[in-house]
Amino acid sequence: MTSQHIEAVVFDLDGVITDTAHYHYLAWKQLADELGIHFDESFNENLKGVSRVESLTLILANGNQADAYTNSEIEDLANRKNEYYKRLIQQLAPEDILPGMKELIEEIRSESIPVGLASVSKNAQTVLHALEIEHLFDYCADAAKIKQSKPDPEIFLTVCEALGADPAHSIGVEDAKVGVQSIQASGMFAVGVGSYLKQADLIVNDTTELSWTQVKHAYFNSQQRRGLS
Ligand code: G6P
Ligand code: MG
Repeated sequence: MTSQHIEAVVFDLDGVITDTAHYHYLAWKQLADELGIHFDESFNENLKGVSRVESLTLILANGNQADAYTNSEIEDLANRKNEYYKRLIQQLAPEDILPGMKELIEEIRSESIPVGLASVSKNAQTVLHALEIEHLFDYCADAAKIKQSKPDPEIFLTVCEALGADPAHSIGVEDAKVGVQSIQASGMFAVGVGSYLKQADLIVNDTTELSWTQVKHAYFNSQQRRGLS
């Protein structure tokens, strides 16, 4: 096989395919307010791509409440946040797919390139179902089975393996810093959605700027530089 090929494209969900990142923020904000902990959009940036319990741990530490709760209370608080989040995503519908994302995935699939999902969200299937795009993914990571959170490469490696793809010939798309780190640690080419993702191999401001032609161009250039072509 020539090296001018792409074996898989793997997407993050929250903040890449739909703006659920904002709903996560609103749900954490409600919980933090109830706990008397200051919480704003800027702190929320640290939580993008971070699992539910780890996010809660960071919020409690930020409010000097790291040791204020037992493990079972922590579980209850995490569940409470999830109830708020689930209530918010009840309104999700296909029109909430971020601009151009469905078309992008369809274009990739039309070239017979497998498409995967690497989300640590336990609500990922609910979200895909509400957006009516489950059929566009050949494999979705099972958040319950992933042991290491992003920035560890485990989730992207797992998805590539399930798709039969070599990470060195695959592309990942993320909106979180830890997500970009996870993609790069797996050896994949990282597309960052968000101007703050300085270390990504290709950076776009938002999904309207994501063109498949441009992604392929940047990817093939980088393969050449890495001597993979
Ligand atoms: C994604 C989001 C995080 C969220 C995590 C877990 O990575 O970016 O903000 O905490 O998923 O989501 P969950 O739906 O399982 O609470
Ligand atoms: Mg994300």
